[in-house]
Amino acid sequence: MISKLTIDRIFETARIEEVVADFVQLKRVGGNYRGLSPFTNEKTPSFYVSPAKQIYKCFSSGSGGNVVGFLMELEKMTYPEALRHLANRYGIEIEETERTDEDKEAISRRESLYLLNEFVAKYFSKVLKREEEGMQVGLAYFKERGFSNESIERFELGYSLSQSDALLQEARSKGHSKELLIELGLVMENERGAYDRFRERVIFPIHNLSGRIAGFGGRTLRSDKKIAKYINSPESEIYSKSKLLYGLFQARKEVVRKDLCYLVEGYTDVISFHQAGVENTIATSGTSLTEDQVRQIKRLTNNVAILFDGDSAGIKASMRGIDMFLKEGLHVKTLLFPDGQDPDSFARSKSSQEVMDYLAENVRDFLVFKIEFLLAEAADSPIQKAEAIREVIRTLALIPSDIDRDVYIRESARLLQVEEKLIYSETDRLRQKTDQKSPPDRRPTMALVKEVPTDEGVESREKEIVSLHQERHLAHLLLTYGTHICRFMPIVDGKFVPGTEETEESVASYIVQELETDGLVFQHPVYASIFLEFQKAVLENQIIPDAQYFLRHEDQSIVREVIHLSEGKYKLSDWNSKGIYPKSDLDTLERNVRESVLRFKEKMLHHIIELRKNDLQIAEDTMEIMSELYQLLQLQKTIQRLVGQEV
Ligand code: CTP
Ligand code: MN
Repeated sequence: MISKLTIDRIFETARIEEVVADFVQLKRVGGNYRGLSPFTNEKTPSFYVSPAKQIYKCFSSGSGGNVVGFLMELEKMTYPEALRHLANRYGIEIEETERTDEDKEAISRRESLYLLNEFVAKYFSKVLKREEEGMQVGLAYFKERGFSNESIERFELGYSLSQSDALLQEARSKGHSKELLIELGLVMENERGAYDRFRERVIFPIHNLSGRIAGFGGRTLRSDKKIAKYINSPESEIYSKSKLLYGLFQARKEVVRKDLCYLVEGYTDVISFHQAGVENTIATSGTSLTEDQVRQIKRLTNNVAILFDGDSAGIKASMRGIDMFLKEGLHVKTLLFPDGQDPDSFARSKSSQEVMDYLAENVRDFLVFKIEFLLAEAADSPIQKAEAIREVIRTLALIPSDIDRDVYIRESARLLQVEEKLIYSETDRLRQKTDQKSPPDRRPTMALVKEVPTDEGVESREKEIVSLHQERHLAHLLLTYGTHICRFMPIVDGKFVPGTEETEESVASYIVQELETDGLVFQHPVYASIFLEFQKAVLENQIIPDAQYFLRHEDQSIVREVIHLSEGKYKLSDWNSKGIYPKSDLDTLERNVRESVLRFKEKMLHHIIELRKNDLQIAEDTMEIMSELYQLLQLQKTIQRLVGQEV
């Protein structure tokens, strides 16, 4: 891991305006810089960089953050990758923290596997371009398929010789171990000895999202039906077929820029499309989609268009896989190529502009496509039509957004010629069934309360969080004054009494302990994460974090929220000169904190009481709820009395 010291140095040295200027043309406007957003295709600049605050803000995409966040967003780097990029740019030496021996071993093992793959890819590429057989067989084949030199470079294509141990010999002569080659499946062994897996094949390296080579696909050039057309690297510590998407590394920027991802079936489809200028294209490599893959796409865009071969026998089989996109809330379009054409052959026979026009004009909504496909298949059979309707309802029930689902239900009813009412009730029924299956909540509970309601998940809309304002206020206090020491008033006989030396503690410690004893947690996912870090520091007696720490946080949603807090009503004016709370105001700070804690508790309690009242209406045995409710109301009174004492 990169040491804390190095991270601090990187943040102190890197200038966001310089880093952004590597990607965006910036013009000075007043104290800020402005330019065209690199995240969208806007024509009028609405992308700002503040050198004073060291943050950027993009008004057309709504994103914003610090310099690391910028690289993570634009270049899709991970947090450590972004840090390394900056260290490299500013010539900062990276100091690694001590790792455990196990960590070190795992990391260096993975690292050596990647290094070996990279060596192998370079070797295959060299064979393709320089060796007699490579040029005459491999390169000639790629040329015949119309691949340009740029495409060959961009996808690092190669060729593996027909000599059965050419790679093994080469790798060994360069000091690589046979064991690792076997582990990566590049070399195989049988009674007769060791031999290259990919011999006599053209090679398609498969990159992971950060551009490292995880494995290979190899295509035979023989038409012998007994030989598999493609073979791939076997699963290994760094290669997992179900997690990788071919071309995603090369396509990722364009996917973000276009806010759309084209999904095709094969390696060659991807390459031909990129060559035709449609660079937001990736492939599943012939397997059905996995949840992992869907999530990777979702990190980049919410829109996918699936391109089917004209003769694809697998359309029906792939439909289930496509449902996965809908379930994750993506918008899915689809397109069927003319009979006998696949994306690769189509792109080759047309100009770049023609390909783009064709895509734009022919993509159709996936669900509409699916309905028409199933109806056509059912023809006049009532049984098959009923099955088609059930199938469509299963799909509709997966759509998480109420609004999207509503629109689709109405459209489906029209196409299927069934009552909307029927589809509504059936999808509701299915949705309830799946809801029940979700795992139980395991958050701590308030002292008296059986369960504290939680609004989990980043999706949870802010306005649904009843205690949003109170949480925001407490988060602000923690970030600004967490380390301040106050003489907090304890409660004696249900009343606040002046504090003594014994009751001195930091604001962070007070807030954490107060919430701890009642088992309360924040409902807002980001405030909850911030709170957890304070909680950990307090309970483990570590240094209490400050705003600066969170501004450099790995989790960019935290960075954004802290920036947001610093801008609005909760101006954290003294972040950089921490520890300055005017002496005369120290009393108000103590009171402010105490009151904010109470108001948060009051809000939560109120919410819980309302929920219990609801329970009462539908419960069969009301006695238990009644007695709980009574205790809750008592507690509420106490808190209200305490709040009253404050004003
Ligand atoms: N595939 C595979 N193993 C096979 C056949 C196919 O892994 N035996 C995967 C490959 O990733 C391939 C994709 O499925 O790219 C689509 O298969 P196919 O359409 O047969 O191949 P194309 O990519 O169209 O290759 P080509 O045009 O060279 O025939
Ligand atoms: Mn093909």
